[in-house]
Amino acid sequence: MRNKITVVGAGNVGANCAVWAAKKELGDIVLVDIAPGVPQGKALDLLQTGPVEGFDVTVTGANDYAPTANSDVVIITAGLARKPGMSRDDLVLKNYAVIKSVTEQIVALSPNAILILVTNPLDAMAQVALAVSKFPKNRVIGMAGVLDSARFRTFIAQELNVSVENVTAVVLGGHGDTMVPLTRLSNVAGIPLEDLIPAERLAEIVSRTANGGAELVKLMGTSAYYAPAASAVEMAESILRDRKKVLPCSAYLEGEYGINGLFVGVPCKLGSNGIEQIYEIKLNETEMAALHKSAGAVKELVDIVTAKMAEEAAA
Ligand code: NAI
Ligand code: 2OP
Repeated sequence: MRNKITVVGAGNVGANCAVWAAKKELGDIVLVDIAPGVPQGKALDLLQTGPVEGFDVTVTGANDYAPTANSDVVIITAGLARKPGMSRDDLVLKNYAVIKSVTEQIVALSPNAILILVTNPLDAMAQVALAVSKFPKNRVIGMAGVLDSARFRTFIAQELNVSVENVTAVVLGGHGDTMVPLTRLSNVAGIPLEDLIPAERLAEIVSRTANGGAELVKLMGTSAYYAPAASAVEMAESILRDRKKVLPCSAYLEGEYGINGLFVGVPCKLGSNGIEQIYEIKLNETEMAALHKSAGAVKELVDIVTAKMAEEAAA
């Protein structure tokens, strides 16, 4: 039987997730959105791309969840995107309501799915999906680190005029400007990055990476979508094809790195069981402090949604 991938939110990121997933023939695809006609139209348009591009999967669009039943992987991109001047954090309560409603409807029909969250503020929204779904923590994963490290790799490759394929870059932490690009552990074909780029210049590249989302919002008037979609689909592929890739993902930590009860970006092995392993890298004092600062920024947002959930439960 073929895999089924549902993408909730047929906007910029969601539609591009469907494109990448179809191109890779990861399985049959269902696009869901509240906008009447939009997921149906984009699904039909993409389906008609199959004969040209040579992929052979079904693509269905819907405004309801019936066609999503028994999905293997669900990528959740529904919600508001950042506009110029808006931080990821401004989105928290608006997107909380969206993620809560989407998660309830998804889990009712796909109780065994693996959820990949994309909606911002990412780590806090993953926390909402975990709480609402009551899924085990290995089946709720946030997408951020693949994108953040892709940006870091791109900037390093540009700086050194080398193939991006040779660049390995590690980014930990929450998906925000406190993220922690680990220069000490990043390298070009095994050559330590810190031996190749002077510290001052490297600090500029780190800062550009941490503000990579905002750079694109400023240019386009809305947030990025090609690389975010490709990143979410890389995670879905590793799960659906049991590739066991080690990718930076937002995972629910219970003591790892001294962090408890929070989604934070860390290296994870992704296979058919979702997160199959979380790797604890030995960090130095500065790196650990930066990771904890980033986790603190995630916690501020999580506290807002936790208070909202408690208020709703009491009402
Ligand atoms: P978009 O505005 O193009 O698309 C969002 C779609 O969600 C719209 O089509 C809208 O109708 C739909 N939607 C809203 N409420 C819904 C609901 N209750 N049920 C189903 N669909 C609903 O936005 P875009 O650019 O696709 O971004 C989506 C989200 O992804 C944003 O929150 C954005 O900040 C986030 N994002 C996260 C990244 C990451 O690294 N984690 C990277 C890029 C974007
Ligand atoms: C990004 O990093 C806005 O989170 C989004 O592009």
